[in-house]
Amino acid sequence: MIQARICPVQEGDFPVLWIPQQKFASFVLNVTHLVLPPGELWFCRLFNQALPLVQDEALQQQVKGFIAQEGAHARAHRNVLADYERQGLDFSISRARLTSIFNGLLGDKVMGRWQPEGRWQFRWLRMRIGMVAAIEHITCVLGNWILANQAIARADPDPRMLELLRWHGWEEVEHRAVAHDLYIHLGGGSVGRMLWFVLALFAVILTWKRGTQVFIRQDRQGPRSYGFRTYVRVSRQGYLPTVGYLAKSFLRYFRWSYHPDQEGAAAPGGV
Ligand SMILES: [Fe+2]
Ligand SMILES: [Fe+2]
Repeated sequence: MIQARICPVQEGDFPVLWIPQQKFASFVLNVTHLVLPPGELWFCRLFNQALPLVQDEALQQQVKGFIAQEGAHARAHRNVLADYERQGLDFSISRARLTSIFNGLLGDKVMGRWQPEGRWQFRWLRMRIGMVAAIEHITCVLGNWILANQAIARADPDPRMLELLRWHGWEEVEHRAVAHDLYIHLGGGSVGRMLWFVLALFAVILTWKRGTQVFIRQDRQGPRSYGFRTYVRVSRQGYLPTVGYLAKSFLRYFRWSYHPDQEGAAAPGGV
C-alpha cells in the first residue's frame, strides 16, 4: 500500500553548495527543487482526472497513494526553493517557462490551443499519462541511483539535503509502477509508451540543462558554463549518474516486456 511519509527535512536554511568542493554536482542536483514541484503537481492534476476512469479498486488505491506522495515531494522541494529565494536567488524565468509547459503546452488544451472533446479528451489525457509513466521510469532510475550512491555521503555533504533526496528517491522507487499500470489500464499501448518516453526524455534533458544554467549564472565566483566534459568527469567520481548508467537504464524502457517491477532493486554500485 502506497502512502505518503512525512518528509524528514522540514523548513530551515538550505545551502546551495551542499556537497563540499562539488559545485557543479550541487547545482545539477538542486534542479530537483526547481523543476520537480511544477511537474509533480501536474502529475497530481492528471491523476485526479483519471481516477474516476479506473475500474480496478487496487489500482485506485495505488493512484491515490501516488498523488499523496507526489504532492508531498512538491511541497518539500518548494520549501528548499523558497529558502534559496530568501538567499537572493531568482528563479522567475524558470518559473514562467515551467508554467507555460505544464499549464500551457501540456495542460487540458492540446498544446495550449485546442480544447479536445469526447474521446479526444480521453486520448489527450492518456497520452499525458503515458508521458508521466515515462518520466516515472526516469525518476525511478534516479531514485535507485541516489539510494545506492556512496560518493556523496563520503564527501561530507549537508546531511539534510542528502536525506531529502534519499526520501524522495525511495518513494520514487516504491511507486514506480503506478503511472505505467494506469496507462496500460486506460488502454495505452507499447508503441505509444516508447514514443512518449522519447519525447519526455528530450524534455527532461533540456529542462534540466536549462535549470542547471539558472544556478550557474547566479554564481558570481564560478565559471559561466561547465560543459559536457565536466559532467562526465564529475559523474565518474560518483557525484552524478554516469552517462553509461543512464543510457543502459533508459534503453530498458524500449523492451516489449518492460514493466517497472523489474526496476526494483538499487543498481549495483549505483553509478
Ligand atoms: Fe516525486
Ligand atoms: Fe514519482
